[in-house]
Amino acid sequence: MSYPYQIRSRAQYDAEYQKSVTDPEGFWAGVAGNFLWRKRWDKVLEWNFKEPKIEWFKGAKLNITENCLDRHLGNWGDKPAIIWEPNDPEEHHRVLSYRELHFKVVQFANALKNNGVKKGDRVCIYMGMVPELAIATLACARIGAIHSVIFGGFSAQSIADRLQDAHAEYIVTGDGAFRGNKDIPLKSVIDDALVQCPFVKRVIVLTRTHTPVSMIKGRDVWWEDEIKKVETMGNPDCPAEEMDAEDPLFILYTSGSTGKPKGVVHTCGGYMVYTTYTFVNVFQYEQGDVFFCTADIGWITGHSYIVYGPLSAGATTLIFEGIPTYPDAGRFWDVVQKHKVNVLYTAPTAIRSLMSFGTELIAQYDLSTLKTLGSVGEPINEEAWHWYDENIGKGRCPIVDTWWQTETGGIMISSLAGITPSKPSYATLPLPGVQLMLVDEQGNEAQPAANEQGAMITSGNLCIKFPWPGMLRTTYGDHERCRTNYFATYENQYFTGDGSFRDEEGNYRITGRVDDVLNVSGHRIGTAEVENAINMHAGVVESAVVGYPHPIKGQGVYAFVIHEDPHHGDEDLTRKDILQTVTRLIGAIAKPDKIQFVKGLPKTRSGKIMRRILRKIAEGELDHIGDTSTLLDPGVVDAIKAGRL
Ligand code: PRX
Repeated sequence: MSYPYQIRSRAQYDAEYQKSVTDPEGFWAGVAGNFLWRKRWDKVLEWNFKEPKIEWFKGAKLNITENCLDRHLGNWGDKPAIIWEPNDPEEHHRVLSYRELHFKVVQFANALKNNGVKKGDRVCIYMGMVPELAIATLACARIGAIHSVIFGGFSAQSIADRLQDAHAEYIVTGDGAFRGNKDIPLKSVIDDALVQCPFVKRVIVLTRTHTPVSMIKGRDVWWEDEIKKVETMGNPDCPAEEMDAEDPLFILYTSGSTGKPKGVVHTCGGYMVYTTYTFVNVFQYEQGDVFFCTADIGWITGHSYIVYGPLSAGATTLIFEGIPTYPDAGRFWDVVQKHKVNVLYTAPTAIRSLMSFGTELIAQYDLSTLKTLGSVGEPINEEAWHWYDENIGKGRCPIVDTWWQTETGGIMISSLAGITPSKPSYATLPLPGVQLMLVDEQGNEAQPAANEQGAMITSGNLCIKFPWPGMLRTTYGDHERCRTNYFATYENQYFTGDGSFRDEEGNYRITGRVDDVLNVSGHRIGTAEVENAINMHAGVVESAVVGYPHPIKGQGVYAFVIHEDPHHGDEDLTRKDILQTVTRLIGAIAKPDKIQFVKGLPKTRSGKIMRRILRKIAEGELDHIGDTSTLLDPGVVDAIKAGRL
């Protein structure tokens, strides 16, 4: 496959960017022309950010799996589509060619159909990082079912909330998942979730860990048996369902500043074009390269840059089941050497955690195949950037720091590897088609001002003023929520929730969330969600959760908790009890790093918690608390300061 839309020089980037602004429809039609459509669009774009209504390639018909699979079969049928590296390095890895992947996807698509799944039905997928996870995802897309993948670390309660919100009647899971030296009992977690979801009709269970599981007659079936049934039917094909460009492809839940996660909805046509375009350009993918994205498919990064983007581009994508530190901290480098990885795309938190193990292990591996390094999920600090550059890239691999979100579908701000310059800790330039705007609190365009060094810097809240094909279309079942969350803060702007500044060359540096959302190890966690979970714990009167700088995780979770009577006077045990409650209600990823018991919280006279003050205390900035005169009882601040952990 060649990529006529691949940008090969800085001058070309400038020209393409310009074109994408002056003629967005012409620009995206040009890119979209390189995909397989059953029918071309009647109109490239219709939009307003008021409702919001966003329609790309209206009237076009397609199936994304024909782009990801069928169209490669002619020339690239034997090319590896997926390389799968198991958790245990002693276990055999697997390679699936495009032909084999196509076969398995249509096979499982037929199995889904046999189990009653129809176009538009929601299918929840809760699995470990095995090829069958990608297969199940693509099989849904094949028949027009809407997948909702849930990260394997979420609890039964979180799953139940999501199943109910999406009214998903079908589930695909596994008996368990291997992650490092842990065995996550997936089916058992699903069983706990289903106590609250009697509407679920079918659970298809893949055998992976051979963990004993309960199988309920009439509801639960084995993946392997369902495949056998399809085989005996003797029809290996499953014609792709014809989808409208604007039909939903998937729902992915993500945290916001309110207590309940939102189901972000992406659609077929625009998402396909956008993920493929950004994949090919940001990483400068070339045919034959092995692409290794270390994210989990349960997050947007995995959806866009393990499954859809790479496969639509005919790339070889590596799925790794394990974690970077198992069996030791050299595992990523072992995988790079073993599979001759050319592009490595990972998160700053992983880099920082591996930094702490020194460079001895790295020296044992051949990393010479690497051409490009990527970073995603949170701001990358300069120290980690340089370590990555020197020790992994050996100073010869461009680093792309990619800023984007679940809602954006694909990368929005990034350098193009080796084409536009990188700058440590800056995501750098917007991709073609991405029209950014920095605004002040009132929504006016932010103006440049001289910083201490005399450079003209513009800083403000990061907004996007024009649609791009990969953007979210709605939040599932609640369009008004989508409007108020993203389009109501500033008129005619999509508000990202991030703060940023821009240097004189137009490079963007993301400073982090300006709302009540934390970014812990690259995972988005709403403070309200954690507070709700803590408040469910017996004896808790009230709580307030804020983030603080954490050397490995980027941000840690600091909880201030008012408790009637910590476990018969045993505060430590109560802390552990609260952690159990949070793990049960959300999942281990949301567990606070610190819990401080307090007698009162700093509140204004109208009863609002002043988080600014708590943040300062959590950060250890005890001398810079700022003005406390508007507090109902300024005395609580001194008490909290005195008890800081
Ligand atoms: O705050 C930004 C941060 O992660 C948020 C989006 O989280 P999520 O939807 O889970 O998607 C993560 C993977 C795309 C953003 O609002 N973020 C993501 N990438 C970067 C980043 N912050 C700084 N630099 C980045 N490269």
